[in-house]
Amino acid sequence: MMKTNNCGELNLNHIDTEVTLSGWASCIRDLGGIIFIELRDRTGFFQIVADPGVNADVHKMFEGIRTEYVITVRGKVSRRPEETYNEKYPTGQVEMYPASVEILSKAQALPFVLDDCDVSEDVRLKYRYLDIRREKMLGNLRLRHDIVTATRTFLNSQGFLEVETPILCKTTPEGARDYLVPSRVQEGKFYALPQSPQIFKQLLMVAGLEKYYQIARCFRDEDLRADRQPEFTQVDLEMSFVGQDDVIALVEGMLEAGFNAAGVDVKPPFMRLTYKEAMERFGSDRPDMRFGLELFDVTDIMEASTFEPFKDVIKAGGTVRAIKIPGIADYSRKDMDDVRNLAISFGAKGLAWVTYMNDGEVKSPVFKFLDEGQIAELQRRSGADKGDIVFFVADKPKIVFDVLGRFRLHFGKKLDLIDENAHALLWVVDFPMFEYSEEHERYVSVHHPFTAPNPDDMDKIESDPGNCRSIAYDIIYNGTELGGGSKRIHCPEMQERVLKALGLSAEEIQNKFGFMVNAFKYGTPPHAGLAIGLDRFVALLAKTDSIRDVIAFPKNSQAKDLMADAPGEVSLQQMRELHLKSTVTPK
Ligand code: AMO
Ligand code: AMP
Repeated sequence: MMKTNNCGELNLNHIDTEVTLSGWASCIRDLGGIIFIELRDRTGFFQIVADPGVNADVHKMFEGIRTEYVITVRGKVSRRPEETYNEKYPTGQVEMYPASVEILSKAQALPFVLDDCDVSEDVRLKYRYLDIRREKMLGNLRLRHDIVTATRTFLNSQGFLEVETPILCKTTPEGARDYLVPSRVQEGKFYALPQSPQIFKQLLMVAGLEKYYQIARCFRDEDLRADRQPEFTQVDLEMSFVGQDDVIALVEGMLEAGFNAAGVDVKPPFMRLTYKEAMERFGSDRPDMRFGLELFDVTDIMEASTFEPFKDVIKAGGTVRAIKIPGIADYSRKDMDDVRNLAISFGAKGLAWVTYMNDGEVKSPVFKFLDEGQIAELQRRSGADKGDIVFFVADKPKIVFDVLGRFRLHFGKKLDLIDENAHALLWVVDFPMFEYSEEHERYVSVHHPFTAPNPDDMDKIESDPGNCRSIAYDIIYNGTELGGGSKRIHCPEMQERVLKALGLSAEEIQNKFGFMVNAFKYGTPPHAGLAIGLDRFVALLAKTDSIRDVIAFPKNSQAKDLMADAPGEVSLQQMRELHLKSTVTPK
């Protein structure tokens, strides 16, 4: 071994101990002939010193060492003079005058200084192996490891088996675009990379595994954002002979273990809201529960008013909802224009308001259409006081909730209502089974097509799909969807019925999911499961905005690996072997 100890673990207890240390020369200072080097390894920093009067050979060697050279030193740990104690490091009371030093490898000047915080992300990604030398990035990877370890330990203790499932497989049902891999052996055919192990984990239930998990890599070709990557990792699990509450209880224990590994205390049971409540009260299916600012319904008041635009919206099946924002009644004309433009940028057609001025006066462009009783009822329902403004949006429910939900977040942040130290965990349950897709001109699954319908809504699958609820649940952390799952359909007849309701022909069902529907004919236990987005989980606990910061080698927002320069071109020869023709001529 080229090291007997780690740099970061040395302290006064090691005085006079002979140690061998190896690492990177991270900071070199030459003070009038005496050279100080901060030696860095994975565990921390340790100061080594060369004094020509003490050891001329070692000092000569030190003179040749540049930043980020990899070196090994051997010698006795000594106490630093007290006035030079460095509080910044845990090892700040000790140092070493090495008896020998060896350069293991040299380093060119780095493309960026490691402790510079303003390096562009493109440069960091291009030289990711250097970026990971920084304490912050190393800390993120360590945190990820700790969370995964705690998760595995918890699931193992609950009797789960970890099973790997294929990466080269057939299209899976999560609804994003697939990554495809052409087959050389089967001309004209393609594998799809899994968007999740969904089908395989259900087949493992048919196989009798009962409790499965996997730290699973998933691939989705979708538009990227800070919290999405083309390949990402799920903590994926599935259980037999259970219902929603069993999965929820299990996942609460698992998340508690994960949070604890990050030094955060959370206490199950977590909050629960139905999808309907979440939308109506917070305008979102993933509400941030760290603050209030709830929406409320004023459709009945507006329906009885004489304000035609709102009445027309209501007649067409729309709704009018409102939100009270406290303490902003002194907004200027320009501020109000900005708020209105914000609403319009969120998709609203207009924005109405009532201002409860600080001097007691109440002003609103819609009051002339309301009688005194309606005005009083508005105030009662909003609980508005002097200084508050109530905003209204009238439209289709989807738009109203979306606009006001985003309003809520906007003002929550702007008015500093969000406690950054809070950990709000919430289950959203009773999701709709289907939603209408304008793009596909048919109903699509809200979760995925293997999700069980709510037994109370079975009769709506064909007749009223928009109002059919499923047994699907999402876990939300501070307004981010951490994970989701569902109880699954376990009867082949029901599975075919749902696939048909999704507009798949018998032939398509057989072609895409036939092996699964067939498998269900051989004795299938009732089963349910869930997947947590591991990258998001770690990123939130690492308090970083981007999941790229907790992935060792991520892609950038154009799905490029800047370091390896992937995706890259391939030769015509390779294309021919794969039976591919390109419309782009390879260089
Ligand atoms: P779902 O599609 O909701 O469910 O995915 C589960 C969780 O995975 C994370 N996630 C992502 N993270 C990073 N980048 C992405 N592109 C990305 N897409 C999703 C999210 C999400 O909540 N098979 C089902 C689970 C089940 O039913 O058991 C599934 O994949 O945090
Ligand atoms: P008008 O009489 O057209 O000036 O409208 C009166 C107020 O209602 C204005 O503040 C409009 O912005 C607002 N308004 C119009 N349509 C909507 C709508 N769909 N939702 C919310 N406010 C609206």
